[in-house]
Formats: sequence, C-alpha cells, structure tokens
Amino acid sequence: MRDEEKTVPSHPSSLIPHPSSLIPHPWQHSPFMRACRREPVPFTPVWLMRQAGRYMKEYRALRERMPFLQLCKSPDLVSEVTVTAAERIGADAAILFADILLIVEPMGLTLEYSKGEGPVIGPPVRCGADVDRLRELDPAALDYVYQAVRQTRADLKPETPLIGFAGAPFTVASYMIEGGASRGFEWTKGMMYRDPGVWHELMRRISRGLIGYLDGQIEAGAGAVQLFDSWVGCLSPEDYREFVLPHSRAVIEGIRPGTPVIHFGTGTATLLEDIREAGGDIIGLDWRVELDRGWAAVGHDRGVQGNLDPVALLADVPTLRERAARILARAAGRPGHIFNLGHGILPQTPVENVVALIDAVHELSERAA
Ligand code: CP3
Repeated sequence: MRDEEKTVPSHPSSLIPHPSSLIPHPWQHSPFMRACRREPVPFTPVWLMRQAGRYMKEYRALRERMPFLQLCKSPDLVSEVTVTAAERIGADAAILFADILLIVEPMGLTLEYSKGEGPVIGPPVRCGADVDRLRELDPAALDYVYQAVRQTRADLKPETPLIGFAGAPFTVASYMIEGGASRGFEWTKGMMYRDPGVWHELMRRISRGLIGYLDGQIEAGAGAVQLFDSWVGCLSPEDYREFVLPHSRAVIEGIRPGTPVIHFGTGTATLLEDIREAGGDIIGLDWRVELDRGWAAVGHDRGVQGNLDPVALLADVPTLRERAARILARAAGRPGHIFNLGHGILPQTPVENVVALIDAVHELSERAA
C-alpha cells in the first residue's frame, strides 16, 4: 500500500497502530519527490551531484582526521556530512555520503583511495577465472551503508528527501576491469568484444548484487535512488543495447517497486532513447545536450535531471544565474524537471557560488500560486 493511501482503520482501539505509522512521510510531499512523480511543483527542486565533498571546508576538516573509506563506514559521520552539506547549500534533497565502489570489497576485491590517483581496485578482473573468483554480493555485508541511511534519515529534517545510490553495472564493471579510472576503457571494451560470455556473466553478477544493495538502502529509508552510469557515454548505441541495456534494465526492474529511480550518465546524447528503454523515472542529462532536445529524446512521459556544466560554477554569479535561467527556460515549467549539474561539483568550486545557484533556481522557477 502506498503511504498516501493509508487511513485510520475502524478497528477497536487496541488494534489501531501508533499514529506515527499512519502519517505519510513528510518528505514524500517535497518538491523533489513530486518532481520524481511528474506532479506540479511550487518551484523547480535542485540538488547537486557531489554536494558533499572537497569544495566544502567542513568536509575537508573531517577528511584531515580520517581516510575516505573509514568515513564511509562511520554512520554518524556519514549522516553529519550528508546533512551538513544539504543544509549549508539549501538543496531540496540530500544524497547519502557513500561511493559507487563500496560493493567491490564484499565481492572479494581490494579497494583503496589513493591521493591524486583516485580509486584503485585489485586485482583487476580480466578473464573468466577472475569473474568466477568474485564472491556473490551478500547485501548484509553493506550493513554499514543501511545504518548510515537510517541515521541520516533520522537526522535530516522530516521534509527533506534522502537519495540512495549505486553505480550502474557498466560503470562498476569498468572500475573492476580497469582496476581504477580510465580514459579509453580499453580493457573493458576488450572484454566485451573478445569474450562476450565472460562480459555478460560479470554484468549479471554485479546486477544481482546491486538489486539487493539498493533494496537495502530503500528499506532503510532512501526515498529515491540514483543509478550512476557515469562513463557509459564511451559506448556506441549499438554496443550499449547489446552489452549494457539488459543489465541496467534488470537492476531497475529488480528493485522494490514504488521508489523513483534516477538513471544518470554523462556523454549520453546519442544514447538517450536506449537509456530510456533501460528504465528510470528520471533520466540524467549532461550539458553536452540542450535540455529541451534531451527531454524530447527521452520522451515527456519521463522526467529529466540536469544539466548545468559544473564549470559554470566557477564563473561570476550573474553569469551563473543567466546560465541557470537558460536551462529553466528550456524546461519550460514542464513537470518532472529536477535541476542539477551535468556531473559532480568540482573541488575548486566556491561554496558561495553553489548557494547562489540554488537560490537562483528557486527564485527563477517560482510558480505563481
Ligand atoms: O554526490 C555526493 O555528494 C554523494 C557522495 C558520492 C561520492 N561518490 C563521494 C566521493 C557519490 C554519489 C559518488 C559517486 C561516484 N563515485 C561516482 C559516480 C559519480 C561521478 O562522479 O561520476 C564515481 C565514478 C565514483 C568513483 C570515485 N570515488 C572516484 C572516481 C573518486 C575519486 C575522484 C575524486 O574526486 O577524488 C571517488 C572518491 C570520492 N567519492 C570522493 C567523494 C567525496 C573524494 C574522496 C576524498 O578525497 O575525500
């Protein structure tokens, strides 16, 4: 039963549940959740990818005290980082502080975040025997993430929705195969082209794990989930359809129904119709596609999220406002637009500009009552 449909039953008083369980979560009525459902909103909701991160001095201070991974595994601190960031910038949703690569550890690989180099995963998965050695993801192994969701949900304002997330199968597979970041994805595409059976087996294993992991976050209190397919734009549409689409679709169709899914990628201008086929209530757009054209490709029966270039946040405030206004004009007040960047906030971004952007989106999109 949807929360909104719950009403007080006419039972004898001893059977009446505690009133708190009958109140639909206040965050369900937030502009962000309404936009996820393509309902009318009083203003365009906005949050920013990587809104909790190094551009914020509160975050840098905490990171001086402990490594990134240890922070991810400390529910109290995750909640503090998540809530502080969302409140400091006035975002309409909080995104859990975590990482798309946390699932590789319980699948039997090592994970390190080295200064300057980004994530390092070992040993890289390069052949069928490597895939067979991977452990089936036990969702319980990521209990620290669900605890963090519960803690954050409890600490957030009741009307602020919390977004859970995971990497999409392709982007997670690419990190496992390359052993870290990559420019050309040669090992990843090499496996696809040379050994499609091994590729699909790896993608199936990751996808099964992701379903349990996302369900764990939803059960713990995530109101929406975002699937990050950050690097999928390196593929041709044909390769996307053959090697990726069925797996992303299996994840989106496999998770608990009733929770909006945001399906995000970058460099996807030529893939939008296929990403739509893979699924998602809201499709992410980056700045390389104009928002109205991207939305037309996605179809107006879905919502879109985006799509300011993160570099625009380095400009002066009047330029930033003007660029935000152009995006809002392209969205044309249609229900189902969530304002965001086309990719994450850059570490050198001034926090005042982030606040100015969020204020501008709210102000410029305010609908007449
Ligand atoms: O968006 C948020 O504020 C929530 C937290 C979040 C992080 N990573 C925290 C993080 C989210 C949603 C992610 C997702 C993520 N992680 C993606 C998809 C989004 C994207 O940007 O494409 C990817 C590809 C990763 C993998 C990853 N994790 C990389 C490539 C890096 C290093 C890059 C860098 O900026 O150093 C990380 C580390 C990471 N994840 C940091 C943060 C705040 C930086 C860690 C630090 O040094 O403090």
